[in-house]
Amino acid sequence: MRWFESGIGYQIYPQSFLDTNGDGIGDMRGIIQKLDYFCELGVTFLWIGPIYQSPQDDGGYDISDFYHVDPRYGSDQDLKELLAKAHQKGLRILLDLVMNHSSDQHPWFLESRESVDNPKRDYYIWRKGKNGGPPNNWESFFSESAWQYDKLTDMYYMKIFSAHMPDLNWANPEVRQEMFALAKYWLDLGVDGFRLDAISHLSRDESFRDSRKRADATGFVPDWSKFSNRPKVFEYLKDFRHQVLDNRDVLAVGEVGGGASVGLARKFSDPLDGGFDLVFTFDHCWQNDSFGNDTKEDQKFEVQVDKLKAVFDRWYRGMHQDRMLVVYWLNHDHPRVLSQYGDTGVYRKESAKMLANTLYFLYGTPFIYQGEEIGMSNVTYQKISDFRDVSAQNYYKSAKDRLSKAQILKFLQRTSRINARTPMQWDDGEHAGFTTGSPWVKVNDNYLKVNVKDQMADPDSIWHHYQKVLTLRKEPKIRKAIIHGKLKWLHLRHPDIFAYSKITDELTLTVISNFRNREIEFPLGEYREIHCHNYPDLLIRNHKIVLRPYESVVVFA
Ligand code: GLC
Ligand code: CA
Repeated sequence: MRWFESGIGYQIYPQSFLDTNGDGIGDMRGIIQKLDYFCELGVTFLWIGPIYQSPQDDGGYDISDFYHVDPRYGSDQDLKELLAKAHQKGLRILLDLVMNHSSDQHPWFLESRESVDNPKRDYYIWRKGKNGGPPNNWESFFSESAWQYDKLTDMYYMKIFSAHMPDLNWANPEVRQEMFALAKYWLDLGVDGFRLDAISHLSRDESFRDSRKRADATGFVPDWSKFSNRPKVFEYLKDFRHQVLDNRDVLAVGEVGGGASVGLARKFSDPLDGGFDLVFTFDHCWQNDSFGNDTKEDQKFEVQVDKLKAVFDRWYRGMHQDRMLVVYWLNHDHPRVLSQYGDTGVYRKESAKMLANTLYFLYGTPFIYQGEEIGMSNVTYQKISDFRDVSAQNYYKSAKDRLSKAQILKFLQRTSRINARTPMQWDDGEHAGFTTGSPWVKVNDNYLKVNVKDQMADPDSIWHHYQKVLTLRKEPKIRKAIIHGKLKWLHLRHPDIFAYSKITDELTLTVISNFRNREIEFPLGEYREIHCHNYPDLLIRNHKIVLRPYESVVVFA
């Protein structure tokens, strides 16, 4: 078994983790300071979001120097110290590797835009406009054209994210070599692997013809097939595996995301194709019908438990024979899972524990997202300008003629990425102990109620529940049940209860979770032991277990 198959990952959004110099921005020293925190929680490796030099148009995913740490996060030396200290404690470190695009302030781009015959011209994708507009009707992921006009040479460059993030031209072998050299540089420095950002987009439909699908409210066509999962991506990634990853004991996790079927995920993680060890997919992330529905603000966005189970079932069946899965509830691009699938009112604690039980005994390597272990939830910002994220601001621009401010606010509060990006809530002091200065983005005002300090002092807290779940996972017979056990669903179609067993010769581990805030009866078979229960006792009536709101229990038979 390779190290990450039995490992437990934790994602850090560095600017919001812990600020140690009072500039309001989380930093490398903040992460170093908290290394014992991860060990205590039970985490074995960290994925740290991009810490490279960046003008910060898109939270550091817009990189102007791929080789150096941005001074806002510390120095290259701090990163080396972080690696050394983490390794001493047995923690491994993944960096975020962004190879699809750079910042428009990267020296390559500054040269590239100079003239059509600049040697760096083909590092990016330039095309002439059409009928006074962009070269085609493709939409970017951030609610506008996938092209940006540049006056200097009267041409457009492609950018499938923000206007300040020109896409690198992977069809150019020089670009590929640059990126491979970059990855090797970090691995040689001692990092244990990468999360590969936006990696399914490296190749485009090279005819650059219009999409024939329908335009949306932006006037452009959200047709991701024009630049996702295209055949050449697999060729590029095969080279990447051979030239960069082969013969190193490192983890490559690809963000292959939206629109990737099980079949594609298998291809991305086929040693002879994409060559990733693990892939992130998004299918389970929006099973409360909230994505994209910005006009339905009165609808109840209740989690569809049967659909959620069907997603996990599909991925399990497609992958478990010969591929490892990732299990995660959210990352920095999603709203908080507690707000989506749990309860942020009376049953905050119960529902957060329930979500942990439900997910972390399923087949796969866990990635916990910062703050999830204390049940952080969505923000209630009342001003559009508080949503400090380029995708939220672009969305606002594209929607403001169509929707009222109140509608837009509601939609952003429910779906915006900023929900996951507010500062980590360490204690009940000013700014939640995140900074002594003024935080780059407003702290969620529930920090008096929801913070690490209180929860570490309370054995019944969400934090301690996470610790329990992770400790349990590491016991050999339980790990075996999770990884090698057979998955058996209990009432797969049940609309409210998420229940399954993992079965080996030694053990049947069963998780039963109630996703609703009402009592529901459910059959309970024989059991020997109870674990990770979020109520003090079991309530049995007529040979059935009466599950109270968000009740969840793990039993062994
Ligand atoms: C990935 C990142 C996201 C970023 C985008 C562009 O999807 O997770 O945060 O905006 O790529 O780099
Ligand atoms: Ca700082």
